[in-house]
Amino acid sequence: MQNKLAELLAPYEGEKGALIPILQKIQGEFGYLSDKIIHEIAHFLDISESEIFGVATFYAQFRFTPHGKHVVKVCLGTSCYVRGATQIMEALEQKLDIKSGETTSDLKFSLERVACFGCCALSPIIVVDDTVYSKITAEKAKEIVSSYE
Ligand code: FES
Repeated sequence: MQNKLAELLAPYEGEKGALIPILQKIQGEFGYLSDKIIHEIAHFLDISESEIFGVATFYAQFRFTPHGKHVVKVCLGTSCYVRGATQIMEALEQKLDIKSGETTSDLKFSLERVACFGCCALSPIIVVDDTVYSKITAEKAKEIVSSYE
């Protein structure tokens, strides 16, 4: 990791203003921003770790914990909600034994909630990685997730 990190940081020598692109690039490579990575960036840019956290926590795109291999997103927007999205989320939380926003300990799945995918006519919706599953039930959602195991 150390070599790859140094390689990614090298073009930004002395560029404190490039913090966001640096964080994007590094998260793109490692999947999330660990404490160790934040420490290394702080050292490289000669700024404090709290300054980096202050910027990174402002943007929802940055993650500080590892993501699962598969990301399961459950839509809890109004249209999906009235068609059983809560039951779908509960079924998946039970199946994966995690809560929304968490990742399984084997790093296979992360479970997230989304406000609306913009395809309400097909609700309720879940999305696994980049695949959209429409008009599903809690039972069907569990089967879909099982197919990724
Ligand atoms: S509310 Fe779920 S897709 Fe719009």
